[in-house]
Amino acid sequence: MTKLSVNLNKFALLRNSRGRDYPNVLTMAKRCLDSGVDGITIHPRPDQRHAKYSDVYELAELLRQYPEAELNIEGNPVPEFLNVVKEAVPHQCTLVPDDPNQLTSDHGWDLKKDGNFVSSIVKDLQENQIRVSLFMDPVLDQIELAKGLGTDRIELYTEAYARQFAEGNKEKAVQDYQTAAAKAQELGLGVNAGHDLDLMNLEFFLKIPGVLEVSIGHALVVESFDHGLEETIRQYLKIISRKKDAGTE
Ligand code: PXP
Repeated sequence: MTKLSVNLNKFALLRNSRGRDYPNVLTMAKRCLDSGVDGITIHPRPDQRHAKYSDVYELAELLRQYPEAELNIEGNPVPEFLNVVKEAVPHQCTLVPDDPNQLTSDHGWDLKKDGNFVSSIVKDLQENQIRVSLFMDPVLDQIELAKGLGTDRIELYTEAYARQFAEGNKEKAVQDYQTAAAKAQELGLGVNAGHDLDLMNLEFFLKIPGVLEVSIGHALVVESFDHGLEETIRQYLKIISRKKDAGTE
């Protein structure tokens, strides 16, 4: 069955926006794990504007209390990131070619260009007993290159799927991903997927057989508002109305 890994970056972003430790990322991780998710993903960027490197160590410690769950650390393999990953020893490290100025990851690796660089990092991480996944567009010759440089898995970048799904082109949206996943599996690579997956588009995506893991962050947080906003407002209004009653007595 496909595993769900919750990406905690949005919680970290919210925390950082106030300079206090609220919401606490570890508490959110625990709540996700206690709700039955299979793993936690964290994506520290070089400027640490969402997740901080200290979050990575704390999460690695927490995950030891959840032997069934996995920690996935994703990010651009700059030297500081690699040092943190090798110290934290997650179950999986997903390498992402994101530029420090990008709002979010928006493309997979071009292994024609970066193959040698990525290959040495894949080996280094594997020697440290860390499973490696490469963030990839659903492009067949790139997936063949990924196999050639020894990665364990690829993570298919699903933004294009999500966009076309929202436009109503479900079948067309999933086609390239179906072909790419089949190719990767035929080559012996594990297939993960992530980016812009949500409660509306996930089920249709999972008609692709054998997807090992989906990592979901942004939509999961927004959808938590959808499922909890009205109840939260009800509680605020209750407090205020109690006070109003007190004032008129
Ligand atoms: N995979 C990668 C490589 C990402 O960078 C992100 C976003 O940080 C995700 C998956 C999760 O995407 P989303 O937040 O849209 O669910």
